[in-house]
Amino acid sequence: MEFDKSKWADTAFSRDYLDKAEIYIVERRMMFSLVNSFCRHFINGPLSLLDLGSGDGALTHELLKAGTAASAVLVDGSKDMLDKAEARLKDFDLPKQFINCSFEEMVRQQDFPSGFDMVVSALAIHHLITDDKAALYNKIYRLLNRGGYFVNVDVVIAPSDSIENWYMEIWKDWMRTKQAALGVDEPVEAIIHRYKDLAENKPDTLDCQLAMLKNAGFKEIDCYFKYGIFTIFGGKK
Ligand SMILES: C[S@@+](CC[C@H](N)C(=O)[O-])C[C@H]1O[C@@H](n2cnc3c(N)ncnc32)[C@H](O)[C@@H]1O
Repeated sequence: MEFDKSKWADTAFSRDYLDKAEIYIVERRMMFSLVNSFCRHFINGPLSLLDLGSGDGALTHELLKAGTAASAVLVDGSKDMLDKAEARLKDFDLPKQFINCSFEEMVRQQDFPSGFDMVVSALAIHHLITDDKAALYNKIYRLLNRGGYFVNVDVVIAPSDSIENWYMEIWKDWMRTKQAALGVDEPVEAIIHRYKDLAENKPDTLDCQLAMLKNAGFKEIDCYFKYGIFTIFGGKK
């Protein structure tokens, strides 16, 4: 599906996500803080960062706040999201670039910026079909410096329906608890149905994506965190 025809090109849809991300995404803060810890642990000194599907820059913001990155390139198909990211990061005095293009276009671009120590992505790559995920992982490998890492925070599909059903139950429990704490009332079943029914969501299994990373040439591949469908996984070039 072309990015322009996806829900993310619809400003009202992306705003609703930004408002409710803390409810919808299980352990979002913790996952971002784990990515920060990962970067600091594995890369010596401030690093050059590429954030794919940056949205309004929430993950890059986390890394810049902690002084983890020395430069940042943010990519997103949505101009509206990138404008928000630019506003959010304006006080960080370091080289920044905001690239408005889809992942599919990015994979085709021969002259896309390269030489990154760390490529991160959060909740974005599951919008690609399986073959496009594999092509993107290959591209990421080529854009990284030797010794650099790719870390992906994303949703995956369970290897069986029965496990997927349990994952949906623990996701609903998470959202109900968050909603109660934040005084929000939205039927969680509707959120689950929206996630499942939305044509833009094309999660693959974790195993399948770890195999894609291996095929791309990555080493030290692992799942670094998992809570139901929410995962952090990646590897080293
Ligand atoms: C769920 S949001 C996550 C945003 C941000 N990473 C975060 O965690 O807050 C998904 C983002 O991916 C972008 N996106 C979705 N499909 C894309 C594609 N095919 N190419 C480029 N960006 C895409 C959307 O515009 C949106 O900003």
